Amino acid sequence: MNIILLGPPGAGKGTQAKLLEERHGLKQLSTGEMLRAAVAAGTETGRKAKAVMDRGELVSDAIVVGIIADRLDAADVKKGFILDGFPRNTAQAEALDRMLVGKGLKLDAVIEMKVDDEALVERITGRYTCAKCGKGYHDKFEAPKVAGVCDVCGSTEFTRRADDNEKTVRDRLDIYNKQTAPLIAHYGSRGRLKTIDGMAEIGDVTRQIEQVLNAF
Ligand code: AP5
Ligand code: MG
Ligand code: ZN
Repeated sequence: MNIILLGPPGAGKGTQAKLLEERHGLKQLSTGEMLRAAVAAGTETGRKAKAVMDRGELVSDAIVVGIIADRLDAADVKKGFILDGFPRNTAQAEALDRMLVGKGLKLDAVIEMKVDDEALVERITGRYTCAKCGKGYHDKFEAPKVAGVCDVCGSTEFTRRADDNEKTVRDRLDIYNKQTAPLIAHYGSRGRLKTIDGMAEIGDVTRQIEQVLNAF
């Protein structure tokens, strides 16, 4: 099963993609995470992307399309993949359409996660991640069971993203509404779109996504 999670910054794409990876053996392909890894590793792509990401703007289509094209050839996506944060504009969606045809792959569903703008800002400004295993947390909505200790790996070190401040979140939202939201119509007209309520609790959002997947 191959799906896209489509939604604004903070909609819960990463949270749900990780849960689906565990439960269904699908592979999360997050261009944001891959770019952050490139920045941390100091690669050429990372150097090009860093300032753009810190401003909340989109990295060039050539870079992200290239990243996804390589990832779709790897063995770990054979059971299925979850695109998280890609495509993000019409040019990327068209490149993906061509890529899938070229590789003989099929897209099963595009799941749009709808969340109110104010909730997004609250989610993003409270978000942090385990520095060791990458498990995501939230100051208010998803604290570790033992304060300051990662549930998964026991690490006591956590990080916050450079682009997770209120100003940048509002700019990212603006870019989502202008450049990414048109993809709702792109996939709607192809009969692939399913819209779910991303305002619900994390577990309830998972159940809504699983209902969509169970239809296949
Ligand atoms: P990217 O990493 O993709 O960021 P984003 O799209 O802005 O989305 P986020 O990761 O912020 O949100 P999410 O939906 O994953 O939410 P999460 O699950 O963490 O991209 C970052 C940057 O990289 C871009 O700005 C751009 O510069 C560049 N980039 C990436 N892809 C690109 C592309 N294709 N083209 C060009 N540039 C690209 O949840 C958020 C928080 O809320 C968490 O703390 C979580 O615990 C909490 N939460 C989740 N669900 C719920 C819920 N149901 N209720 C309450 N809290 C919840
Ligand atoms: Mg994410
Ligand atoms: Zn951890």
